Amino acid sequence: MLLQTPIPQDYLRLPSGSLDDRISAAKAALGDRLTILGHHYQRDDVIRYADFTGDSLKLAQLSQSRPQADYIVFCGVHFMAEGADILSQPHQQVVLPDLSAGCSMADMAHPDDVEECWDALTALLPEQTLVPLTYVNSAARLKAFVGRHSGCVCTSGNADSIVAWALEQGHKLLFFPDQHLGRNTCYKLGIPLEQMLVWDPRQELGGNSPEQLAAARVILWQGYCSVHSRILPAHVARVRAAHPGVRVLVHPECPFETCQASDAMGSTEYIIKQVQSAPAGTSWAIGTEIHLVSRLARRHPEQTIVHLDDCACQCATMYRISPQHLCWCLEELLAGRVPNRITVDPETTLWAKIALDRMLERS
Ligand code: 13P
Ligand code: SF4
Repeated sequence: MLLQTPIPQDYLRLPSGSLDDRISAAKAALGDRLTILGHHYQRDDVIRYADFTGDSLKLAQLSQSRPQADYIVFCGVHFMAEGADILSQPHQQVVLPDLSAGCSMADMAHPDDVEECWDALTALLPEQTLVPLTYVNSAARLKAFVGRHSGCVCTSGNADSIVAWALEQGHKLLFFPDQHLGRNTCYKLGIPLEQMLVWDPRQELGGNSPEQLAAARVILWQGYCSVHSRILPAHVARVRAAHPGVRVLVHPECPFETCQASDAMGSTEYIIKQVQSAPAGTSWAIGTEIHLVSRLARRHPEQTIVHLDDCACQCATMYRISPQHLCWCLEELLAGRVPNRITVDPETTLWAKIALDRMLERS
């Protein structure tokens, strides 16, 4: 359990719009000792203070590239801050402004369950080489697990090349926690759906027969993103009818059928680049988290940008990082205290770093 230093109520009583001077002053006073990283799903009143923004891959790379900063304040979710602690220098301290900013998908793959699955598969199929691949949206312990077992980490920004590499390393791929990213990527690389199985950790052998497991090329963990799994092929059909000529752009955490019905899929950074490089007058329907889509629509008035789904779901945990939390963290750092520090133990760091370095070398 993560025990959080409680944010003083004085901060929570402050209206969001009133904090600009205090956050800016704390940032200026901390100077080069501070780097603020912000994921694209952060709310506007937080991301405006980020020194650098990015998708998970870019933020992992950035967390290695600022050794002069004593403090990395990560405006994102818990697994991203853990990754920054693993990849940054030992003298650097990583702060997550609200420790309850987790990722419900990452929580769907408990390390004990994955180890149980691994043990069952390796006992059942001793003659087959199984390669474990974890999406970066996972606990540090799972990154260490893949590091120990000659596997790798991937993000949505490098999934194509990492999955292609992993498929060459053995007979079978075990991909967790996001079944959708795994399925979408493997299919794009030419693996037919019939060669992919889903592993349900609540069932014996994941709900599969020994014969099915022996024949499968890819075993996908039964995890998903609660935001992206709500974006359906019916939304694509509706938006195409309403906006003839629209280009449908989705994140690969969306279900397979939605991605198949779309025109392009890629990470948040990819989505941004597609829009930035398109000519004026282009019409887009974008299937990803609401804050990024709304920001793109505001920044590109020369194009027409709509949310692909009507629910336009926000990532509730990303949203937990508020200006009040950011202000409190920066003022605490200024006072010489480090609130909500994220640390990964040395043994886990060692193996997780091996897996992350393997990924970064191939990115
Ligand atoms: P990106 O790596 O594409 O930014 O995605 C991270 C994430 O959590 C998407 O839900
Ligand atoms: Fe996790 Fe989905 Fe939120 Fe990304 S959008 S952090 S996968 S819950």
